[in-house]
Amino acid sequence: MKTYEIKPDIFWVGAIDWAVRDFHGYITPNGTTYNNYLIIDEQVTLVDTVKHDFSRHTIKNIKSLVDPSKITNLVINHIEPDHASSMDKIMSLCPDATIYITEKGKKGLEKQFDISKWKFKVVKTGDTLNTGKYTLTFLETPMLHWPDSMMTYIPEVKLLISQDAFGQHLATPARFDDEFLECASRNELDDAVLDYYANILMPFGNLIKSKIAEVQKLGLEIDMIAPDHGVIWRQDPGGIIQRYLDLAGGKADLRIAMIYDTMWHSTERMTIPIMQGIKDEGVDCKVIKLRSTPMSIAIKEFWRARGCLIGSPTLNNILFPSVAEFLTHLRGLRPKNRIMGAFGSYGWGGGAVKGAYEEINKMKLECVEPGVQVLSRPSMEDEKECYEFGRNFARKVREYHEQFS
Ligand code: FEO
Repeated sequence: MKTYEIKPDIFWVGAIDWAVRDFHGYITPNGTTYNNYLIIDEQVTLVDTVKHDFSRHTIKNIKSLVDPSKITNLVINHIEPDHASSMDKIMSLCPDATIYITEKGKKGLEKQFDISKWKFKVVKTGDTLNTGKYTLTFLETPMLHWPDSMMTYIPEVKLLISQDAFGQHLATPARFDDEFLECASRNELDDAVLDYYANILMPFGNLIKSKIAEVQKLGLEIDMIAPDHGVIWRQDPGGIIQRYLDLAGGKADLRIAMIYDTMWHSTERMTIPIMQGIKDEGVDCKVIKLRSTPMSIAIKEFWRARGCLIGSPTLNNILFPSVAEFLTHLRGLRPKNRIMGAFGSYGWGGGAVKGAYEEINKMKLECVEPGVQVLSRPSMEDEKECYEFGRNFARKVREYHEQFS
């Protein structure tokens, strides 16, 4: 693996994981990277480690630049195992190094490692570490997205090392946003940002807004953001900050995600006239069958769209299991600023559409009721009803969307 000098004497020494497709249950079709950074100054400092499977990659990278025993400081911005689980290997090479970490981070590490022989310096927002020509300034970001999380800012080079925030799951030869865009496209990069935000950071929109406001109030100049996953933002760091503000503020496309599952195709048959009604109202629509689509992609498409329709057959008088699973997962992500409705089919007693609305109402989102439900295979009359339901839902989505423009 090659190292990259991202600022004078500051190097990317991470690892690229081309193969990971299931990241603790979250589908990563493009793999990911584990980014960490080595600062070669009077005091050599490593910021973060990598997932344990890749420890030899980062150690090899570090050794290509400096003898690891020379590492004086190890900054741990985040203790989730994809960033901290190589700590024991790293510390075995520089046992006298001091670990800079938040109080919650240190407590969390006690559960993962025997830390009795490690030296710690617990830090808070505003604390600094002078390494020679550089001053590392720590900024706690609790619950972004774990209690321990913090970022490291280096004013001399206007560099923010941001751990998970502003990251993307993208394994690519490119280390920087502009390099990536030379080979791929803006849409691909935006899609990776949206995917990461929707699946990991959706619950924390208000915290993101207030933390960005805090950074702006502190007047920190930033001309590079180096996250712990994906490409480094050197061409347009302001753009990714604005993108996060938009996402945290609930920005979405005038679009409807129709997310459904089906048993004997009755619910599936309903999607066609509903989609036609939506289209005839001039609103874009994305149709997703749950058992054919990874959960994380369904979540991303939910978050991209202003409106969402849930479709479910009835099984034993309640929601179909895959639909129930999706709605439970979605509720945990605490979505905001979205409008929802439901449709479905049943064989005798019914219950799926009622169950879907119960779940939607728990999320306290805008809701269009009643939904539409059909007995068995939709008749011509049922299809007309579905079409009108789609048109009406699209009108409501447009009206609701206007308040965000
Ligand atoms: Fe990339 Fe929260 O770990």
